[in-house]
Amino acid sequence: MAGESLVRKIPKFFQNISNILDSFLGSQTVVGLSIGTSSIKLVELKRSGKTWKLLHFGIVQLPEDALVNGEIVNPIVVTDSIKTLIQQIKLKNKNVCTAISGTSLIVKRMTVEVPNKSELQDQVFWEAEQYLPFDVAEVVMDFQVLSRSKDRKTDLILVAVKRSVLDNYMTCIEDAGLKPKIVDLDFFALQNLYEANYPLNASEAVAIIDIGASAMKLVFVHAGVPIFTKESSFGGRNLTAEIQKNLNLSFIDAETLKIGAGPDGSTPQEISDLVHLMGENFAAEIKRAIDFYNASSVGAPVAYLLLTGGGAKISGLSKIIEDTVGLPTQLMNPFNSISYDPSVFTQEYLANIALIASIPIGLALRAGAK
Ligand SMILES: Nc1ncnc2c1ncn2[C@@H]1O[C@H](COP(=O)(O)OP(=O)(O)OP(=O)(O)O)[C@@H](O)[C@H]1O
Ligand SMILES: [Mg+2]
Repeated sequence: MAGESLVRKIPKFFQNISNILDSFLGSQTVVGLSIGTSSIKLVELKRSGKTWKLLHFGIVQLPEDALVNGEIVNPIVVTDSIKTLIQQIKLKNKNVCTAISGTSLIVKRMTVEVPNKSELQDQVFWEAEQYLPFDVAEVVMDFQVLSRSKDRKTDLILVAVKRSVLDNYMTCIEDAGLKPKIVDLDFFALQNLYEANYPLNASEAVAIIDIGASAMKLVFVHAGVPIFTKESSFGGRNLTAEIQKNLNLSFIDAETLKIGAGPDGSTPQEISDLVHLMGENFAAEIKRAIDFYNASSVGAPVAYLLLTGGGAKISGLSKIIEDTVGLPTQLMNPFNSISYDPSVFTQEYLANIALIASIPIGLALRAGAK
């Protein structure tokens, strides 16, 4: 019974070709759905030669407490918001690639040794049980093989998530009328997006950093491999909370003031000071992750940082991170390779959505990967 419901309700984390062909054969478009703490985003891309073209982007803001620590705590609001988005962009293709995140998600690089490939899954799940802080009966696990050497050692990434958390995501998406064909992670969506938009340089690694509302996700990519991932509870809402406290404002007013503070010099000094303090905290966390990566990994040194996520739009933040971490820092541009119709999307609109649309575009690309 448990196995039956698992197969029906819980798609595999990682795509396999037959799955993809099954799900998307004949489909002209690919769809990425990102359920974030502050908003839900939906992107539809259409194949255009060897690359992809933006067809639709939609976003619906969520109330302050719809998601907590990456878990959906208000499923009615989430389902209704997805329905609104479907109508907003008039979505026809119901097969979506989505992602789960949050504190109950565990991503771990492992090396296991088995004589035959057929024994791999049992061995991985058996070894994983030793690491998991949850009862294994409450967890859904999957893994992606990175490499297998001749000495029977297999290098892989294990992903485990609490079943109840995943169930909540699936139920909301299905209740809204969509089919979650692939459940991915934001980390891999970021890697996908990076690889689609930036040239591969095997001599250097890049740290891709998504600054969301409540979380900062880092993925260190070298030679097409996500060497190390980390999620920290830093995000744009930290700044909102500081503005609320210091200026004695409501959440909404603090959020509006924060977003209104643009690069045109209109930022009040009080907010600039708070951005500075917060940016240094972000940078310290990024530095700790880089030190950990440098000390423990086999990848090349990190050459530069690529920032994305709505939090990366905070005026001046990128510069503070660059100065404090001491590495070149750029904002990620998903439209380096994703084309668009200029009569539908203006440059200004695309610049405005670029950082917020990164993860849903990365998810859509995953759905379209061959
Ligand atoms: N122009 C702007 N200036 C400053 N902050 C902004 C701006 N636009 C969006 N933000 C902030 O970005 C955050 C939302 O970013 P994003 O949509 O990437 O997060 P999310 O996916 O909802 O959250 P999470 O990934 O943490 O679950 C919010 O804190 C929002 O206030
Ligand atoms: Mg997000």
